[in-house]
Amino acid sequence: MEKLETPSTDRPVDRLARWAPLASAADAWQSVVKKVLESAGPAVVDALHGTPLGHPLHPLLTDVPVGAWTVTAVLDALELAGKDDLAAGADASLAIGIGGAVLAATAGWADWSDADGEAKSLGLAHAGLNAVALGAYAAALLLRRNGNRETGIALGMIGYAFVSAAGYLGGELSFGRGVGVRQTGEPVTPPTDFVTVLDAGELAEGAMHRVEAQGVPVLLYREGETISALSAVCTHAGGPLDEGSVKDGCVTCPWHGSTFRFSDGAAVHGPAVFPVSRYEARIVQGKIQVRALAG
Ligand code: FES
Repeated sequence: MEKLETPSTDRPVDRLARWAPLASAADAWQSVVKKVLESAGPAVVDALHGTPLGHPLHPLLTDVPVGAWTVTAVLDALELAGKDDLAAGADASLAIGIGGAVLAATAGWADWSDADGEAKSLGLAHAGLNAVALGAYAAALLLRRNGNRETGIALGMIGYAFVSAAGYLGGELSFGRGVGVRQTGEPVTPPTDFVTVLDAGELAEGAMHRVEAQGVPVLLYREGETISALSAVCTHAGGPLDEGSVKDGCVTCPWHGSTFRFSDGAAVHGPAVFPVSRYEARIVQGKIQVRALAG
């Protein structure tokens, strides 16, 4: 199964995504990030993806700096308009934003370490803009504490411009390119009545087989008398689970190593955070039939 190509369009952000120097830098930096994450261990990396939560962690954390720095911008504007008593609040929200940005960046690097193609380039640009914003805010906080308030406020405004631009690229990654979005294959309704998908004799013990059930790609796996039926599409980035490997009652995606349990479809290792759909399977007159699980 081929990876989906990003539609070829020609907006400025598309040209940025195709810019060769950015792609080269992303390749080089990704190998560094992967090494750092490997040294942290799989449990830490899974936690950074949000796999134990069943939800991506990075977008949850980004709300903290964006929200806090928005408060800073508003309070700074009011301070410039003469409300001096708001200075302490502005500084506090700025500091909270810095802490939140460090946490969000850590989770973001974990997600980015598995990015491919143009998403990898855009992800690096997104991170670079955020890094500039973080540096500007850190310098702004120091200046404010040292009494250079006007320059500190100006630097904060510059930081806000950079974090807003980074947010645009983050939106492009999620909504334009589907990074972090649960992948389920074709947008069709799974069969609610049993449909025949395969002769039972064709599903060997311990082997996986990909079938279509009313257009839905389904992965069949047989262990003794038990037939498991899961969506064949990895929820991380759409990888073909039927081309992966089986171990300890789980299937591992061949693209980035996400691992799903046959018994319930749960993601037990990332980068996937969402489970794969599970189907009910039975054998009737030598034929394997599947249908969506009844509610
Ligand atoms: S597509 Fe990335 S782990 Fe499956």
